[in-house]
Amino acid sequence: MKKILIVLAICLTAGSTAFAKDAISKDITVYKNPECGCCNKWIKYLKQNNYNVTEINTRNVAAEKKRLGVPEKLAACHTAVIDRYVVEGHATHRDIKRLLLLRPEVTGIAIPGMPIGSPGMEHGSTKEKYNVMTFDKKTGKAEVFVKH
Ligand code: CU
Ligand code: CU
Repeated sequence: MKKILIVLAICLTAGSTAFAKDAISKDITVYKNPECGCCNKWIKYLKQNNYNVTEINTRNVAAEKKRLGVPEKLAACHTAVIDRYVVEGHATHRDIKRLLLLRPEVTGIAIPGMPIGSPGMEHGSTKEKYNVMTFDKKTGKAEVFVKH
């Protein structure tokens, strides 16, 4: 497993192996409140990183979170779906890519709250420390996926 992670890290740093390009989906659906500015900033960030974004504006994002199995304690603002995974909150494109490459047996990943310095939450050069969590609706387990 360690070896795989090292290879993966190299792939992610290089960013453009044929494998990564072919295997990874860039089609993402984002559920968000139409009035929320940080969600729009995150969508802009995704587009800048070549994602095809389908925006779904709703005043009841909470209902989508529930349907998709996002635990309340890990909730942020927007909720996205890419491939078979749920991505909750201000994820970096690298962490989304990591999820799609590693393909863990989980429902998705979440960045709870709105950490300053995450994509769409920039505030000067301030960077808050935060953990990206995996969550699983079958087991109810949440684990650290990446530390920032
Ligand atoms: Cu937000
Ligand atoms: Cu938002």
